[in-house]
Amino acid sequence: MKRVAMETLSLSKINYFLKTKTLGQKIISFTTVDSTNSEAKRRSADEPEGAVLLSEVQTAGRGRLGRQWLSPGGNIWLTVLLKPELPATKIPSLTSVAAAAVCLALEQLRPSIADRLQIKWPNDILLNGRKIGGILTEMQVSAAKVQAVILGIGLNVNLKAEDFPEEIRSLASSIYLETGEIPSREQLIASILNSLEHLYFKFLEDDLSETLAVCRRKSAVLGRKIILIDHSGKPTSSGKLDRSGSPSGQIREAEALDLGSNGELLIRYENGEKASIISGEISLRLQ
Ligand code: ATP
Ligand code: BTN
Repeated sequence: MKRVAMETLSLSKINYFLKTKTLGQKIISFTTVDSTNSEAKRRSADEPEGAVLLSEVQTAGRGRLGRQWLSPGGNIWLTVLLKPELPATKIPSLTSVAAAAVCLALEQLRPSIADRLQIKWPNDILLNGRKIGGILTEMQVSAAKVQAVILGIGLNVNLKAEDFPEEIRSLASSIYLETGEIPSREQLIASILNSLEHLYFKFLEDDLSETLAVCRRKSAVLGRKIILIDHSGKPTSSGKLDRSGSPSGQIREAEALDLGSNGELLIRYENGEKASIISGEISLRLQ
């Protein structure tokens, strides 16, 4: 496949499209960094709420559950530093806020893909059923107080099939692979930040209604049979390893019923028992 020349990210173009008061008012941009989330953690005490870190390449991009995140140039690897004065229990909802913001931005820029764009609860962005992006929400807590939330967003814009290792080639994809087009990264970044700020400010006022409406509308899981893999407990006796090389966890089948008021997933296990799950150490597969 022919490679399309990669353009360098222009901060002035991002600024041109940005309509925010806080998010992205300071953008720290790198050609290469280990991980924008890791860098944001290192700088969190010195940078203001809403600071955005962007890197063309990440040498040690991180996914959920300690997985490696493939991060070559030409894509979107960004982290937003947030400092909400809220208890730690409220913070997982920010993953839903970010997932909704990414969907709104993509729908706005590419209306033609809207009906093929989904959220696999809680943090995966899917296009045509394949993962084109993910969100990694981390927090720094000290003296039982949230000092900072490190909200990482990765979006595969120009990745080609051969860029992915064999084992994730059928699961992962990019906007280019699914649409044949490479959208303006600057416009996309600004649009994500515009939507994110709107939904984040509502979240701060304890209003998740718009976020939940988007997450329900875009959900790839609601009403479906799912498999839950709990990585928090002891490994299964089979000793099997998952894709990341970690021991696979406890597996249970369930049905995804709805989202709760904080974005948690409401499920019913096969035995009829109902439960509410927050993302934590849980992986979810569609049946
Ligand atoms: P989980 O539900 O446990 O978080 P996942 O849904 O993220 O897992 P899949 O979509 O099934 O996982 O598979 C994609 C795999 O590829 C994941 O392990 C993901 O971390 C990894 N991966 C690494 N880099 C990328 C990337 N740039 N884009 C998409 N997936 C990536
Ligand atoms: C996942 O789906 O597992 C989450 C992927 C999150 C990737 C982004 S890219 C920007 C930020 N920096 C990182 O190291 N990870 C997140």
